[in-house]
Amino acid sequence: MPKQSYYIVALPGDGIGPEVLSSALKVLRTAAELFQIDFRVEEIPCGGHYYAEHETEWPEGSFEKCEQADAVLLGAVGHEVDGKTVFTKPGKPYPEPQLAGFAQVILNRQKLGLYANVRPVKLYAGVKHKIHGELKQVWEPGKVDYVVIRENTEDAYTGETNAIPDGRMTPIKITREATERVVRYAFNLARRRAKQNKVTCVDKSNIIGAHRFFREVFREVGAAEFPEIKLDYAYVDAFCQWQIRNPEWYDVVVGPNLVGDIISDNGATTAGGLGLAVGGNIGDEHAMFEPIHGSAPKHAGKDKANPMAAIMAVQMMLDWLGTRHSDERLHQAAVQVEAAVAAILSEGETLTYDLIGEAKASRCSEVGAAVEEKLRKIA
Ligand code: NAD
Ligand code: IPM
Ligand code: MN
Repeated sequence: MPKQSYYIVALPGDGIGPEVLSSALKVLRTAAELFQIDFRVEEIPCGGHYYAEHETEWPEGSFEKCEQADAVLLGAVGHEVDGKTVFTKPGKPYPEPQLAGFAQVILNRQKLGLYANVRPVKLYAGVKHKIHGELKQVWEPGKVDYVVIRENTEDAYTGETNAIPDGRMTPIKITREATERVVRYAFNLARRRAKQNKVTCVDKSNIIGAHRFFREVFREVGAAEFPEIKLDYAYVDAFCQWQIRNPEWYDVVVGPNLVGDIISDNGATTAGGLGLAVGGNIGDEHAMFEPIHGSAPKHAGKDKANPMAAIMAVQMMLDWLGTRHSDERLHQAAVQVEAAVAAILSEGETLTYDLIGEAKASRCSEVGAAVEEKLRKIA
């Protein structure tokens, strides 16, 4: 059932996070006005800069707000002081030091049950790539269109690191429950896409026993429940070169958490880079949407970063909320936000430095405003 009002928690975070999220939230407000949807957006300060000041990553009660929200939007976390990333102190709030911002990215994924991290690798028309310092069109739109599904709750991301004689050891944890639910998500997505009817399992199962288990569960679930879907396999090292050389081979790709982290950034290379790469952290009850890039400290505070990944996070959120609440207004808004971004990309005029070069670059806020204006024209 459509809701009267949707409650969105926005976590701007650190570095370029607040800048790109500010543009994305303006696009959300414009979409809300055009499609007559009511959003209540609550911004919560958080991340490494907040930790550096308060010794906590966000105000008390913030996680509960994420739990109550209809969806969460995250900018990025990761704060630097004197060129060094801020980590939490041992024992405060975790036994082991963690990236300050761990609560927003990793604990939200785990505690909200956001087991599938959905990261499309899709090249839009007109997008160029920086190769040898020059912008060129290398890959063909239509030949780069697959989705990485990253297991999002375990693997090397449990937060555990143990002392061993003269060293530290971080375990890789892979369970049947977490693997079954994420591979099922991947198979169902391949079914819905109805493109190649193929899911590629990417792992390091030739060496890592836990990854061998991931691959076995993938095979079992695929064979038993998705007989019409082709099962495909790749080791992550070789996959990294195939995804650059032959991205058209892939439809849906699934892998353990750390593998998914790496191949989604690698895939972004073929689709315009990190400034365009988006991710949805999806669970059965909750979801959090974010650009997949980090806080890019060297670009922070310059109104320079590409806001399009964050804008596409809003687009994914609108689409997910539309399905969850059978709300056609949200689906329409999602379709039109994507169309507006695609139009700005193909016109090739109002773009940030990463897509057009420093000399012709528009500001982050100008690109956001161009998307809003386009949305008003086409909606
Ligand atoms: P990063 O993704 O922040 O940036 C790497 C490079 O990619 C940048 O220097 C820039 O050249 C480019 N880039 C990234 N986003 C861009 C954008 N919107 N527009 C244009 N160019 C963009 O990765 P990093 O430098 O390795 O990490 C910086 C910090 O971010 C670290 O503290 C890291 O832990 C954290 N991080 C956070 C998240 C998250 O919050 N989800 C994700 C990745 C990294
Ligand atoms: C991402 C990031 C995070 C991850 C970091 C910041 C912990 O790289 O969202 O891709 O590794 O999951
Ligand atoms: Mn990453």
